[in-house]
Amino acid sequence: MISFTVNGRNVGVSAPPMKRLLDVLRDDLSLTGTKEGCGEGECGACTVIMDGLLALACMVPVCQVEGRAVTTIEGLAGGGKIHAMQNAFHENGGAQCGICTPGMILAAAYYRDHPSEAEDLREALAGNLCRCTGYKAIFDSVKAAMSR
Ligand code: FES
Ligand code: FES
Repeated sequence: MISFTVNGRNVGVSAPPMKRLLDVLRDDLSLTGTKEGCGEGECGACTVIMDGLLALACMVPVCQVEGRAVTTIEGLAGGGKIHAMQNAFHENGGAQCGICTPGMILAAAYYRDHPSEAEDLREALAGNLCRCTGYKAIFDSVKAAMSR
């Protein structure tokens, strides 16, 4: 049994130790907000926050998550309200197919909380690829959330 917290909830999963956190979240815990794009650590679709840092769930074997705290897109909202970044993506058309969106929003929310960790918005989101939007709507969304 591997024990950790997800979105503030204690969970225990019986999974092979090398099973990807991405698959544990989606298959074992029914948290399908975390998406798979490349499955190779290149696209950022599977981004989660682990112990306060961004992590790629397709690259993390679940055995490495023992005792740690994971936040997925399902845990970003709080107090019955969606997160300001989710609201900004909604208002500014920052999502089309939506595959990149959960990871993009988590990375953007992390940047909003830690703006000094990247040179600028483009660098902050360089690890999150989108095939649909051309990025303008995404950047407009993040800028809107950051100005609030
Ligand atoms: S699915 Fe994890 S980085 Fe692309
Ligand atoms: S909205 Fe489709 S990949 Fe970004």
